[in-house]
Amino acid sequence: MSVPPLPTTGPGVTHGSGGEVARPARRDTRLDPYVDRYAARTHGMTASAIRALFSVANRPEVVSLAGGMPNIADLPLDVVGSTLADLVAQQGMRAMQYGSGQGEPMIREAICEVMRLEGVQAHPDDVTVTVGSQQALDLVTRIFCDPGDVVLCEAPSYVGALGVFRAFQCDVAHVAMDEQGLDPQALREAVTALRAAGRTVKFLYTIPNFHNPAGVTQSLERRTEILRVAEEADLLVVEDNPYGLLGFEGEPTPAIRSLDQDRVVYLGSFSKTFAPGFRVGWVLAPHAVREKLVLAQESATLCPPVFSQFAIAAYLANHDWRGQIKVFREMYRERRDALLAGLADHMPAGMSWTVPTGGFFVWATLPPGLDSHAMLPRAVTARVAYVPGTAFYADGFGSRYMRLSYCFPTPERLVEGTRRLGEVLQHEADMLATFGPALEGGSDRSLRPYEAPGANQA
Ligand SMILES: Cc1ncc(COP(=O)(O)O)c(C=O)c1O
Repeated sequence: MSVPPLPTTGPGVTHGSGGEVARPARRDTRLDPYVDRYAARTHGMTASAIRALFSVANRPEVVSLAGGMPNIADLPLDVVGSTLADLVAQQGMRAMQYGSGQGEPMIREAICEVMRLEGVQAHPDDVTVTVGSQQALDLVTRIFCDPGDVVLCEAPSYVGALGVFRAFQCDVAHVAMDEQGLDPQALREAVTALRAAGRTVKFLYTIPNFHNPAGVTQSLERRTEILRVAEEADLLVVEDNPYGLLGFEGEPTPAIRSLDQDRVVYLGSFSKTFAPGFRVGWVLAPHAVREKLVLAQESATLCPPVFSQFAIAAYLANHDWRGQIKVFREMYRERRDALLAGLADHMPAGMSWTVPTGGFFVWATLPPGLDSHAMLPRAVTARVAYVPGTAFYADGFGSRYMRLSYCFPTPERLVEGTRRLGEVLQHEADMLATFGPALEGGSDRSLRPYEAPGANQA
């Protein structure tokens, strides 16, 4: 094994004329000379398809249906600005100090009030504040999972969660879903098959509302049935719910956590209902789990950012945040309608898609034989971007799907995006009809939307 150069003085290190230490001379032609030193857990850490796309998809001439960035243009910046100024003037010394590893009491109380909107009755003692719900995912996986443990996820699932599970060297087993979300019978079969194969299943990770990326929502009956299976199988449920308050129709469906306090670890976030830049999310967990979470949080960050917690607490106290969420909902609904209208007008025959009742995403299924991953460079050349379905599977499947986000572009741009996408898809379909399927890529793998439980670990 070759030893990569270290950035220190000694042989192989040159010094610049001004006395500053210059870069070590290269002894190695590999792109990353440290490649032999990384821990095994980093091998699964690769840039997501979404990240790689951002640089091109963000160009103004491209209509990006790819990113899932919340559209915060409707936030009243004057109100936020004066709230922050008052915060610094009145409580700056506390807000800029270290705080509690569990999070500040006043934000934990406010979080309980937010969760009540989805039927969750919780005590602030059971809430741990995190750096976005992304860190909540990290902490939960950190305290529960050993390398080789299995996490059950919907097929498809949130790309950021798959990245965390991979980073902790877990295997992901995908469980089928339909237009009502996760299929309880498939869940039952998956747990049974995995345990029969001697695997340790640590928890079910599920996104019940306005699923990222599938755009579907579990009905109340589904939630009850999923809990029944979890009880039968003594399975912990991790409920990830960043979009629950962004529904377009009626009242929110009660959270899974509202139906069971002991078996469910609930993750929430202010990223979509206020602003992601504050990076405040949370975990609501059974009491014993909460203690471990706080220890994990302390070792990760000492404490979550105190200033952000004060800022959000002040915003919630001084602003009509429920009214603001309503404004967001209407804005996203208008965009959803524009995307759906554009799809109806411009998609070729054989294409289908989900109709979300909230959140940010539509999940589209391509006509047989088309491959969203292979097609992406042609789409970007035609100035439209999406995320290929493969990003949302731990096992390389999903190339017959794509995620289309409607949260950010204007309604006019969304319609134009579907027009461009429709042209690209039609061209691909014509090529397929003329020349047949490509020799490699897509084909059989892409045609299998869901693999048998237990057979598709990463
Ligand atoms: C399903 C899901 N979970 C978690 C997150 C992480 O959000 P944040 O860390 O901003 O709270 C996202 C972000 O898009 C998401 O879609």
